[in-house]
Amino acid sequence: MALKSTNPTTTESWKELQIHFNTLKSIHLKELFSSNANRAMELTVKWEDFYVDFSKNRITKETLDILLKLANEVDLKDAISQYFSGEIINETENRAVSHTALRAAETKEVFVGGVNVIPGVKEVKEKIKNFTNSVVSGEHKGYSGKSITDIVNIGIGGSDLGPAMVVDSLQYYKNHLNVHFVSNIDGDHHKEVIKNLDPETTLFVIVSKTFTTQETLSNANSIRTWFLESQPKKAVSKHFVAVSTNVDSVKAFGIEEENIFPMKDWVGGRFSLWSAVGLSISLALGYDNFKSLLDGAHKMDEHFRTENFNSNIPVIAALLTIWYNNFFDSESEAVIPYTQYLSQFATYLQQGIMESNGKSVDRAGNTISYETGTLIWGEPGTNSQHAFFQLIHQGTKLIPADFIGFIESLHGNSEHHDKLMSNYFAQTEALMNGKTKDEVLAELDAQSLTQDQINRLLPFKIFEGNKPTTSILIQKLTPESLGKLIAMYEHKIFVQGIIWNIFSYDQFGVELGKQLAKSILNELNSDVQSSKHDASTQDLVDFYMKNR
Ligand code: F6P
Repeated sequence: MALKSTNPTTTESWKELQIHFNTLKSIHLKELFSSNANRAMELTVKWEDFYVDFSKNRITKETLDILLKLANEVDLKDAISQYFSGEIINETENRAVSHTALRAAETKEVFVGGVNVIPGVKEVKEKIKNFTNSVVSGEHKGYSGKSITDIVNIGIGGSDLGPAMVVDSLQYYKNHLNVHFVSNIDGDHHKEVIKNLDPETTLFVIVSKTFTTQETLSNANSIRTWFLESQPKKAVSKHFVAVSTNVDSVKAFGIEEENIFPMKDWVGGRFSLWSAVGLSISLALGYDNFKSLLDGAHKMDEHFRTENFNSNIPVIAALLTIWYNNFFDSESEAVIPYTQYLSQFATYLQQGIMESNGKSVDRAGNTISYETGTLIWGEPGTNSQHAFFQLIHQGTKLIPADFIGFIESLHGNSEHHDKLMSNYFAQTEALMNGKTKDEVLAELDAQSLTQDQINRLLPFKIFEGNKPTTSILIQKLTPESLGKLIAMYEHKIFVQGIIWNIFSYDQFGVELGKQLAKSILNELNSDVQSSKHDASTQDLVDFYMKNR
């Protein structure tokens, strides 16, 4: 089986959406609320510890109905079933997309390419668990007999962003181990991380699905050289472990087989934190918390797989992106978590969303004539309110935003939390309602201003409002709720890709730059020009070489 290929713009529902858009585009959200007393309730999905309010979006029940019709016309149901049953839906790389199997119940069978993968998944989890327990308890000693105090995850992209985001987001649940991340090829990155580390008490986790990535291998080599400056070669086995599909290359690097945590090619890099790529998460938080993260994601998988589309959180979230991206011409979406703990969340989502859906050829191989992948960005509230919110409130661009908040804080200081959450509620209300001319006039009248001053200030103080937001209110930030939240966005990405008729799980676009960098590196190292550059690039390279 393969994913079907339907140009979404040729469907009945797309045409209906176009007509519907023309009637809805100038209607203010305030009118939608005043004309339907049940709107908030009708457009809110309550599931487990999630309260997801879609009602401050520029939709009506009719919009949702047509969007759901679109999902049916492109046969989303069939696509979901292929996704969860290990079909080769990553057709251009000839792979299944089965990261959901990593968090499935161990009592179940999940087939990928006709093989039940659960026993293999279980075996790797056991290995992660045992290793985590021995490092955390201090039983695993470094070469000189000291317990491990620091972990350094060496990886990039999906082999860095997921673990780094989760460890940071769940730092409240952390144990005594200090966990660091080295990703950038920029030598400053690894140098700054290792400068305060004791090689005798540090464990390095090299994470690379392919074990061919320049950044990761260079960083791993430089760090190993630094390590060997003070430690004997025999010490490497106590201080270096690796996560990869490429066992031979890991062994060639000098890591013994027992120190390799395998992963499978049916796990995409940007969806791999649930696999052995999450080893640093398990080490930082303990295996039980890592397991809770996986369990949360599994609950969201089940919700996504079985829930009717009209109350299915990832499906509705994805359809809203289509609505804004393809009808309102919105180019970006903001994700604003109202917790400092999720400060890396938008950065993490950038790879997931933009590497997956930044495509311009459809599943039949045709150049696409409609907009696909959205730009994702965001920072925690309230900091972001004092940074870029002005543009969301009064700029010319329509930027739908997800507001992620938590009912219970982890710090327990209700004064701070109520202040934070009052901002969370206030911003979505302000974005929706704006401020009318009459409201501004009343405000200005109350100040002792001349009529001229009032007239002059008036237009600048009016907020149009009508800015769409989705409020995702979760009981508490826990490993389980974070697992649910991440999986929610993973499935949103999937649904978007199905509707846009693209392959979401390859990333050929990042290859060209890598190839060119390799040949330019040869030129920098040999002074021999191996490829012909445009005049601009050539001048830059020459200037660099002359002045380095
Ligand atoms: O940037 C491209 C990419 O292939 C990502 O998709 C991936 O997460 C990252 O590089 C790292 O790859 P690897 O885990 O193979 O080192």
